[in-house]
Amino acid sequence: MDNNKIDIKILLDNAKKGDRKKTLGLFDLSILGIGAIIGTGILVLTGIVAATDAGPGVVYSFLIAALASGLIGLCYAELTTSIPNSGSAYVYAWASIGKRVGFFAGWTLLGVYITTTATVANGWSGYVHSFFAEFGVEIPKALIMSPFNGGIINLPAVIMIFLVTFVLSKGTSESKVLNNILVLVKIAIIVLFVVVGFSYINKSNWTPFLPYGVSGVFAGASTVFFAFLGFDALATSAEETKNVQKTLPKAILISLIVATLMYVIVSLVMTGVVKFDRLNVPEAMSFVLLEKGHNVAAQIIAAGAILGIIAVVLAFIYASANIMMSMSRGGFLPKKFATLNKKSGSPNNALWLIGFIAAICAGLLDIKNLAVFANVGSLCVFFLISLMVILLRRQHPDLERPFKVPFGYVIPIASMIVCILLLANLPLNAWLNYAGWLLIGLLMYAFYSVKHIDAENSMKVDVD
Ligand code: ALA
Repeated sequence: MDNNKIDIKILLDNAKKGDRKKTLGLFDLSILGIGAIIGTGILVLTGIVAATDAGPGVVYSFLIAALASGLIGLCYAELTTSIPNSGSAYVYAWASIGKRVGFFAGWTLLGVYITTTATVANGWSGYVHSFFAEFGVEIPKALIMSPFNGGIINLPAVIMIFLVTFVLSKGTSESKVLNNILVLVKIAIIVLFVVVGFSYINKSNWTPFLPYGVSGVFAGASTVFFAFLGFDALATSAEETKNVQKTLPKAILISLIVATLMYVIVSLVMTGVVKFDRLNVPEAMSFVLLEKGHNVAAQIIAAGAILGIIAVVLAFIYASANIMMSMSRGGFLPKKFATLNKKSGSPNNALWLIGFIAAICAGLLDIKNLAVFANVGSLCVFFLISLMVILLRRQHPDLERPFKVPFGYVIPIASMIVCILLLANLPLNAWLNYAGWLLIGLLMYAFYSVKHIDAENSMKVDVD
């Protein structure tokens, strides 16, 4: 056996065995996807990108980012259905390229999910602040801003992350009910925004439609790509999904289509009601309705955003813990993070460590740096995912592929090109932060992983 790669048979045997309870159906999984996708991106970034990058053409930015996510989502679906496994990119890379790239992919995903959690929690505390401010309660700046933004700590973000981690540590199915409710709240406030805002659309606000030209639309697409992150987190639920081959690709596409529809309609209404150059505010949805005197609707939206964004944090902490658990099973990280709690069936050690790191990042770091870090890391992993579809088809042509991306290699190649285009539009500091994270990973790999990698037991489930 090739010592550098994990034998694909180990992965397939494990997928058949199914150690974790299979509790997620198409509805649950689509809701989990929508829960992970719709959040800070639409609620916080839309107005800012419309004002500074794309104008009303932010609609096109969303469509470009949606197209990219769709291509990548299809590639993800082929891999996750042929080898259902919670480790996602990390195990596919280990199986198709080798242990070093496997570690690189897993480590990157871990960084991406943690920083996405932190970014979203940061955006969330902005809505908390404005919600309370409407009632005359001012949270002191020192307790709601990171040291990079003139405060001491973003306390609401820290508290929220710990609460969500606590809920997740009680088990997936309990969290599922909470997640379903939160997703419905989020959809409800978006519908409320559209219904109330629609009658105020003034078509003259859409002229000019592309004030910053086509380049502004593309720059916007690289930023609003963040709004689609989350479809990939579904892949990490493969082990708990019923009839995964059919359910997973459908759920990925359903959640992307729902999100895209919402983003397009919200951005059209937003830029139609208020001129784009006045939308440079983090709580743009409430702002637009306040402008038209709908204070109650604006407050309902702020309250709904506060509840709804929690679902995104829930999905990302869950996904981070799954990746950490899988990497620990493979010996890349200490085994104790692979242990499942006997009562809840959740990887509680991993959950608490992730919760702790995410809380530190959310409390002390700057939101913009966190968000672009998440974009660089995920696009690098998505590039790999698309490449691995091609590699695995060549290396294992006989592998059963219940879902195969159509048109040969066209879609994986298009997906790789789109990733490169979006990566090229991201700022240098994002690349530097990512390099820093990889350096820490390199030390981890050199001083720990190489001595402990354990392909044979990499799928073994430990319960305490
Ligand atoms: N797509 C997620 C959001 O926009 C990360 O909050």
